[in-house]
Amino acid sequence: MIVLVGFMGSGKSTVGRLLAVRLGVPFLDSDEALEARQGRSIAQVFAADGEAAFRRLERETIASLLSGPESVLAVGGGAVQDESTRSVLVSHTVVYLAAPLETLRERLGDDASRPMLRRAGVDELYARRLPLYEEVADVVVESSGSPGQVAERVLRAISP
Ligand code: S3P
Repeated sequence: MIVLVGFMGSGKSTVGRLLAVRLGVPFLDSDEALEARQGRSIAQVFAADGEAAFRRLERETIASLLSGPESVLAVGGGAVQDESTRSVLVSHTVVYLAAPLETLRERLGDDASRPMLRRAGVDELYARRLPLYEEVADVVVESSGSPGQVAERVLRAISP
């Protein structure tokens, strides 16, 4: 399984879809899968049940997707905070799509569908997660330029 990790706005879903087409495998997204399983949006899960409940659902969703057929999987930006998720990622090819926080902020704007963005302390969140992305990653790819360029960079980085 090829797993894309990185902060919100790093292009995991857009680049992941392109990569999946190039590799001829399905594309999966843990956020979408979680919403489909729950029958409600991530914003609704956060609002009704809180972040801890969301993280539990996220952990279960990712573990189940990783046990399925070979795919490209984009995981939510906070998934690496979970120790159990980090340990299941070890047996997969993990790509960290890296970008400076200023770039991510520009891309994201004020997105109501991302509850974590609405909180104070996004800078701290970014700083806290950065070492975790690096820890789980087999390769780090700069997420600058067009999604197509980033996908090409990923393909080069993961080809044997
Ligand atoms: C989150 C990132 C989101 C989503 C949820 C929480 C986070 O995914 O899982 O809103 O904690 O960074 P994206 O990284 O795809 O935006």
